[in-house]
Amino acid sequence: MSKEQFEETKSFWNRAARDWDIQVGNEGDSNRILNSDPVLWSFAGDVNGLAVLDAGCGTGYLSRKLHKRGAKVIGTDFSEKMIGIARAKAPFIDFRIDSCSDLQTVGDSSVDMVIANYVLMDTPDLGGTMRAFNRVLKADGVVIVVFSHPCFPQGHASPSADGDGIEYRWSFPYFEQQKCIEPPWGHFTTDFIYFHRPLSDYWKAFKAAGFIVVDFEEPRITKERHRLAENVRRLKNSKNRPYSVAFKLQKNRILPDVDLKV
Ligand SMILES: C[S@@+](CC[C@H](N)C(=O)[O-])C[C@H]1O[C@@H](n2cnc3c(N)ncnc32)[C@H](O)[C@@H]1O
Repeated sequence: MSKEQFEETKSFWNRAARDWDIQVGNEGDSNRILNSDPVLWSFAGDVNGLAVLDAGCGTGYLSRKLHKRGAKVIGTDFSEKMIGIARAKAPFIDFRIDSCSDLQTVGDSSVDMVIANYVLMDTPDLGGTMRAFNRVLKADGVVIVVFSHPCFPQGHASPSADGDGIEYRWSFPYFEQQKCIEPPWGHFTTDFIYFHRPLSDYWKAFKAAGFIVVDFEEPRITKERHRLAENVRRLKNSKNRPYSVAFKLQKNRILPDVDLKV
């Protein structure tokens, strides 16, 4: 990752921090509530007493939920503004300014679980991030990563002419990694920066960093949560659109020949 890319993304998230807090509030936004958080919690299981790293914690809604469930939480983010808001909301949680790709404030083999909730598509350095997760994780720990579905980017989605389907437009080849800049949406006032990578590149990065995939899901709304949808459009989208992917990873202790430097 170049220093410029790092500074550019960090400065973007600093600018977006206030609006991000409005987006997720204390409960997460509707995509998290309706679709991905239930999968995240089912992958996490009982976190009571576990040391959990919420990497790229933003303004900390998930850190606070983990804390309520009895986890010993460390929340890290490279954006000083995000961490400032997170600390103000929960001074009792250990929030640290730190980059996912270094995690220099987190010791080797020190956490039972790493969660990166909608972070991997936003970090310029996927390989370094996955290696850092491997370093800080205990031997029998787990990593849970939820990130925007790279095959179905929401910024490129629109309803089909008959209103029943969805159309996705691509302005670049899917198989090429790209830094993407998209105009602000909703209440946001700044352009969004994210990094497109094909799904297989994520899987390769997990493997290269020494992980095996033990569970995978494309989160969608379940029947019990239909009543939580704010309106018909949200319910329809949650039933039909793959917003994210969720992976549960463990350290690969079977194959000793994984190349941690890739
Ligand atoms: C989409 S937000 C998600 C925040 C939070 N996990 C949530 O679900 O509300 C992405 C977050 O990742 C952080 N981030 C992106 N790249 C990072 C990096 N290399 N190191 C640390 N944080 C990073 C951003 O500052 C931002 O807070």
